[in-house]
Amino acid sequence: MDPRTPYDGPRTASAPSTPSTVLVTGGAGFVGSHACVDLLDHGYEVIVVDDYSNSTPQVLTRVERIAGRFVGAVYELDIRDRHALSAVFDRHSVDAVVHLAAHKAVGESTRMPVPYYDTNVGGTTSLLSAMHEHHVRHLVFSSSCAVYGDAGGGPLDESTPARPTNPYASSKWLCERILDDVCRHWPGFVVLCLRHSNPVGAHPSGLLGEDPAGTPGNLMPYVAQVAVGRHERLRVFGGDYPTPDGTAVRDYLHIMDTVEAHRLALDHLADESGMRVFNLGTGTGSSVLDVVTAFRSACGRAIPFEIVGRRPGDVPELVADASAVTRAWGWRPTRDLATMCRDAWHFQQLNPHGYAGSARRPGKEE
Ligand code: UD1
Repeated sequence: MDPRTPYDGPRTASAPSTPSTVLVTGGAGFVGSHACVDLLDHGYEVIVVDDYSNSTPQVLTRVERIAGRFVGAVYELDIRDRHALSAVFDRHSVDAVVHLAAHKAVGESTRMPVPYYDTNVGGTTSLLSAMHEHHVRHLVFSSSCAVYGDAGGGPLDESTPARPTNPYASSKWLCERILDDVCRHWPGFVVLCLRHSNPVGAHPSGLLGEDPAGTPGNLMPYVAQVAVGRHERLRVFGGDYPTPDGTAVRDYLHIMDTVEAHRLALDHLADESGMRVFNLGTGTGSSVLDVVTAFRSACGRAIPFEIVGRRPGDVPELVADASAVTRAWGWRPTRDLATMCRDAWHFQQLNPHGYAGSARRPGKEE
């Protein structure tokens, strides 16, 4: 489908019993933009804050086109800016926050740890201050299964001790510690903490997908850009891991399954107290070469690659046991690796240069 034509695909709209206003930090990002579509589709009012450091305002035009509804308000700001953030809460009666704004590339985090702590941890404390000041007590926090570090093979459940191996993972773990403390000391504060595995894929319309600024740090967008000819070959970081084919194993999760879990978390906030932590994943591991093979089938093109040295901070295998969230809310992922690759390729084909050059959101962001 041409990205300029209106999207008229399937919807599963159902309004929440009490329409509520959700502030999505990082709402123009990969997870955030898909979350906004899903929340709008399900009757939520959505307010977005984003500094566009790894996204563009054009994304939100597409969000609105897919959802057939407008995002309530959009603010360009850095979440570390407490005054600007506080002003957003002054203007809107926010019922809950989905906090996604963060730096998220493992390799980059080992090269520039301080900005990772600054944005991921400092941004979270800034948000907590604004929420506290405005008596907003419901938060869905996006953490990562990266907090488990090198915990060995097999699906890991939430009781696995945290042993982060890189600044990205450490920053998420620090946020979790802070949120846990806050829940102990602020009466009525509820946090549902979702430890992501590796979110990939794209919205089935092909209008939304992953379009990181600069060279992608994550695997799937890099593979997609190789397929479309933007890079000559993939560099596979490590071919000597103790895994079946020697390349690192991860648990890839379709972005639509990922954001559905966020919406279910919002739906359940009112029934919870304190902080609860849930893994998100499929429980199935795929190696880097499995992803290359699946993507090659999806796009029908060769994906040239070379095996190079390991990436600092990487672990051999990380697969999530997400049975707790299935038991709690009935969430289960429904899209397999082939679907993830198909949808990522669909987006990349329709948007070979990402969002660059697509229609700007009309008017100035607030
Ligand atoms: C990490 C987190 C994950 C988080 C994600 C956010 C871990 C174990 N997982 O994923 O929870 O949601 O960041 O983005 O820390 N690779 C290559 N070549 C490349 C890029 C990546 O071989 O050009 C390899 C990596 O070495 C890794 C795999 O592909 O083995 C996946 O890497 P990536 O997509 O960056 O995600 P993680 O670091 O696993």
